[in-house]
Amino acid sequence: MRFVRLRKNRINQRIRDLSSETRISAGDLVMPYFVIEGKHKVKPIKSMPGISRLSIDNLVRDIKEAGRSGVRSVLLFGVCDKKDKFGLEAYSETGIVQRAVAAVKKNIKDITVITDVCLCGYTSHGHCGILKAQGDIIDNDKTLEILAKIAFSHAEAGADFVAPSAMMDGQVKAIREVLDRNNFKAVKIFAYSAKYASNFYWPFRDAMGSSPRFGDRKDHQMDFRNSDEALKEISEDIKEGASVVMVKPALAYLDIISRARQAFNVPIAAYNVSGEYALLKNYSQNRESEKKLVLEILTGIKRAGSDIIITYHAKEAARWLK
Ligand code: PBG
Repeated sequence: MRFVRLRKNRINQRIRDLSSETRISAGDLVMPYFVIEGKHKVKPIKSMPGISRLSIDNLVRDIKEAGRSGVRSVLLFGVCDKKDKFGLEAYSETGIVQRAVAAVKKNIKDITVITDVCLCGYTSHGHCGILKAQGDIIDNDKTLEILAKIAFSHAEAGADFVAPSAMMDGQVKAIREVLDRNNFKAVKIFAYSAKYASNFYWPFRDAMGSSPRFGDRKDHQMDFRNSDEALKEISEDIKEGASVVMVKPALAYLDIISRARQAFNVPIAAYNVSGEYALLKNYSQNRESEKKLVLEILTGIKRAGSDIIITYHAKEAARWLK
């Protein structure tokens, strides 16, 4: 009888490590943060055990700590308490994200700051754009102007990457043009390119108070039955000037990551979103089992083809990977 002895490479940990096809390290991970007004504030998010909304002083302290574990990139979300119909606070020079970016950049060396560029956390109706005068439909092109203003204000504050997540057509182009025109050629776009209308976002919306007050996001975020369409979205974003493209969520979308990897040679990010984090937190029995689960999941996302993983596990995972 003839057969192949594939077990050879699994004989012990040393050999397994030497021949492993996928490697993951702290440098691949991006830690998301929710920033709130005030001082010395820590506001736990019930649906996301272990994750809290932090005031800027605590944010700086926490990122320093994460940095000691090896986290080198963060994604910032502002929790806004001055919402209105137009989301004006989103591009205020003294807005929460703008001040947070400046504080992080001033106090921490060697940190990559990415900012989320969207309106849903800033509008009273909770939609990702400006609504048309009639009815509840988002005005795509008006929203582009606002997104560009938001991105510009983040760039002025010192962001390395701006990350448009509104899923408006042309958003990358609109932002790229404004940045280039204003001497922010070095500020890069981290595009939420294939962002699906997913049921995995609700803990995030809870944390941000950003749920749509009526309707849903299905007229701009992608239908989860589609994958060719994701490649189209990504391809357009690359043409419009994205430096990194993203697939979001991650776990039910590994096929999309894999197809994107085969089709494009730009850095690909995957967003392991809030609902995925919450699921795992509820499943894991103890710290040791949680560690193994998280590393299996993050490795799987990497193996599918992503270079970068945005994950609420980043801080802990970095420590484990050290
Ligand atoms: C803003 C935005 C959302 C997330 C990131 N940016 C929510 C949404 O589209 O409603 C979700 C992130 C997560 O669930 O962890 N549009």
